[in-house]
Amino acid sequence: MLVAGELEIINNFCKNKSEKEGRLKLLQKIAYFSSIYHWASVLEFYAAWLRLIELGLLKEGSDGLPDNPDDDSCEDAVSSVCFIAGDHRNSEVPLLTVMHILFLREHNRIAKQLRPNHPEWNDDNDKILNEARKILTGVYQHIVYNEFLPALLGFDWSIAQFVDGSTRNAFGAAAYWMGHSLVGNSVGSSNSLFNEIRSIELHETFVNTETIRDSAQYSPTRIGRWMSSQYDRKMDRFLSKEVQDHLFQDRNNPLDALDLGALNIQRGRDHGLPGYNRFRQFCGRFPAAFWTNTPGGFVDHDYNTVAKLKSVYSLAQVNDIKRQTLAGIYCRNLNIMYQKHSTKNISEPR
Ligand code: HEM
Repeated sequence: MLVAGELEIINNFCKNKSEKEGRLKLLQKIAYFSSIYHWASVLEFYAAWLRLIELGLLKEGSDGLPDNPDDDSCEDAVSSVCFIAGDHRNSEVPLLTVMHILFLREHNRIAKQLRPNHPEWNDDNDKILNEARKILTGVYQHIVYNEFLPALLGFDWSIAQFVDGSTRNAFGAAAYWMGHSLVGNSVGSSNSLFNEIRSIELHETFVNTETIRDSAQYSPTRIGRWMSSQYDRKMDRFLSKEVQDHLFQDRNNPLDALDLGALNIQRGRDHGLPGYNRFRQFCGRFPAAFWTNTPGGFVDHDYNTVAKLKSVYSLAQVNDIKRQTLAGIYCRNLNIMYQKHSTKNISEPR
């Protein structure tokens, strides 16, 4: 790969660390803006950017992950710089940053153990990196299938080991967003006895790395201790007020915030997901034809939920949408009085 070759040059000919980093940054910019680079090369480059180059390790930073001064998403916060990791959402909330730090450190721990046990790989940093990556990917899959899924679904998922692991559009754009109902209202810090010693409202921490960098009161270890003792949010249809009313809230204007639920519903439409009744049928249930929880309606919901759903979906609005046509929009917006009927027929190419 072109990018990989350039990395070799930077690695071998740059005199010091700062020159190496400067050239890597330049290469990163060229790679992103130039069409001569294939997307796969850019991804490969991005992965390379996270490497220490020597030893098959990944770069760590003084606060866990390395800093990314080029990412301006965190600059809304006072003196806050975002982190860099394989996924760009690493600085979204400290809880997610802690997960990134955990797996970064685990990769480096495995890589350091591999080196003395495989002297034949000593000159091959790529080999150590990839072997460590392979092992950690296996560990990750083991955790997903044998710890996370049984806890989530309530049954042993390992019986389904031959099931096709690919996902449906509807899983990524709707079903798995069930995780949003598990999100709480705060981020805490616990001492070595697992007692909570500090707590901060979640919205204060969105795209703001100050909390995790606060080594006196928070830090990855204290937040990690707190995370490991949180069991209190159920998977249900409710969102915490922090993600419903204060998502990515502007620090200077509290009214400027997003609603994660609304964002999710809209994103489902962007993805062209089928309507609710189609999913009822997919799950072997009858479609709901009435706004009630009696037979023929939403039989598996309680009365209040149905009333709430009814209040936000206006039949008049839906009927009005169904009356609209492309021809109507055409005429209204191009100031055309009428359209010829024949425009509906697709003619043969001449
Ligand atoms: C504090 C915690 C969390 C916050 C603030 C958060 C916020 C968000 C936001 C803003 C989006 C993008 C929505 C859009 O514009 O389409 C998103 C996407 C998503 N979230 Fe979360 N989320 C959190 C936790 C979780 C959890 C725990 C899960 C699942 C267990 C989850 C699953 C997803 C999925 C599947 C997507 C779609 C990703 C994609 O389209 O590639 N999230 N989240």
